[in-house]
Amino acid sequence: MQQLVIASNNAHKISEIKALVGDIELLSLKDIGFTEDIAEPFHTFEENALAKASAIYKFCDKNVFADDSGICVHALGGAPGVDSAHFSGERDDEKNLQKVLAGLKGQEDRRAFYKAVICLVWDGEVYYFEGICEGKIIEEKRGEGGFGYDPIFIPDGYDLTFAELPLRVKNKVSHRGKAVMKMVEYLSPALSEGEGEVE
Ligand code: IMP
Repeated sequence: MQQLVIASNNAHKISEIKALVGDIELLSLKDIGFTEDIAEPFHTFEENALAKASAIYKFCDKNVFADDSGICVHALGGAPGVDSAHFSGERDDEKNLQKVLAGLKGQEDRRAFYKAVICLVWDGEVYYFEGICEGKIIEEKRGEGGFGYDPIFIPDGYDLTFAELPLRVKNKVSHRGKAVMKMVEYLSPALSEGEGEVE
């Protein structure tokens, strides 16, 4: 089975991705003995994803991918965007989500989209895969599942938040689900031939 390191310490992201990668053996940062935080100092998802993936590639010399993601709210000028993880100034999902709700108080335009960019380093070559999920921000939290902004986000075509929908449904329509499926599709020739090479 092909091994692929996932350059993330976010347990929620990892369990979502595990449900999608099928025949790939995912290795965590713990599995490869990487114990530090990985810096995300840039202003685009692409640059941050590349920074995370290449830091881990340098550390272990194995095929690796990183996801950088966030939510972009139209009426907030695209914020929190790349700053989604610490929008309130802290890495605190509840405070971050409350800051979005406060920013949208009285606002009619509640459109938002989640974006995920995956950077894959495979045999030393760099590839990107992107996923976007359009939807809207509701006025109060609903649901217990998911993480981050999921209790206030309803994807287009549904009446339930990402925190209310089953993971199977979230993975089908989510930004991360779409980006991961593109990566898995891209890798499938290498995975089925077991040669570790991508055309
Ligand atoms: P990253 O580790 O810099 O990619 O942080 C992504 C941040 O964006 C997370 O901490 C969440 O705040 C937010 N985010 C990204 N994807 C999701 C999702 O699927 N659900 C909820 N929040 C998300």
